[in-house]
Amino acid sequence: MSRRSGEFWTQRKVGWYRRALRRSDFAPKVLGAIAPLLEECETALDVGAGCGALAIPLAQRLRRVTAVEPAPAMAKALAEEVRERGLTNVSIVEAAWGDVPVPPHDLVLCAHVANLLERESPFLREAPACALKGVAFVRDATGSGDKFFFKELYPVLLGRPYGGPCEQEETVEALARLGVAPTVTLIDYRSDQPFTDLAEACDFWMEYMGLQGEEPRAFLRTFLAGRLVRDGDEWIAPYPKRAAVIWWRVGASFSSSPLPLPLPSPPGGRG
Ligand SMILES: C[S@@+](CC[C@H](N)C(=O)[O-])C[C@H]1O[C@@H](n2cnc3c(N)ncnc32)[C@H](O)[C@@H]1O
Repeated sequence: MSRRSGEFWTQRKVGWYRRALRRSDFAPKVLGAIAPLLEECETALDVGAGCGALAIPLAQRLRRVTAVEPAPAMAKALAEEVRERGLTNVSIVEAAWGDVPVPPHDLVLCAHVANLLERESPFLREAPACALKGVAFVRDATGSGDKFFFKELYPVLLGRPYGGPCEQEETVEALARLGVAPTVTLIDYRSDQPFTDLAEACDFWMEYMGLQGEEPRAFLRTFLAGRLVRDGDEWIAPYPKRAAVIWWRVGASFSSSPLPLPLPSPPGGRG
């Protein structure tokens, strides 16, 4: 799992992700949805933290944040974000969930990590066992815009449809089978992707769709010239998103548990 994620998240993809995040209102929308729970929390564990979309704003308001992130390029970007903001309360664990022990935290959070939040994932059971106050998951919800025009482009360029079953429903149904009835708050936010020019935009789609050769690139150039929106010097792929913030309080007590296990070292030594 972690190897796949590490291969997927190249340095270039992480760079694009960070640029999109800088324009996005994702974090305030998610943190707003769990505001009543967050008020009770001092520590958070962000599983699949990426480059810190939520870990960074959480660290700016909580006492301590642990970020579990297996992809080296993502973990490196997160360490840079932490350093740039002068944060000293973020521990980065460069590992996939389950590969290293982590101690309980008030809040366990996991946003947009499909393999952990899918139907049969053991994480759905394990996350609450690690949470002292509550759990929050974020998944795509019905009503999102067409992600990067994939619904249009997959049939044309890859000869197959894009997308699968509704992510939100899959997680909520799996939680119901575990006896969990979470609050589900829908949030609408922007996840627009900026590019310097059309050539860079073509690179983006070629890489994300695993395309090669001049023919798809030429198709994309014409297609994107008609779809991207100019904003100053940049070209923007508009992407209005809807997500479900699935959250609940836990009543667990860890008095009889052998935890806590040692915390991983703080991010100081990371490149
Ligand atoms: C789409 S990104 C989301 C990042 C961040 N949570 C956000 O909302 O912006 C998914 C992240 O989960 C990480 N990931 C994938 N599988 C994982 C696993 N089994 N355990 C922990 N993290 C994982 C990936 O490396 C990637 O950084």
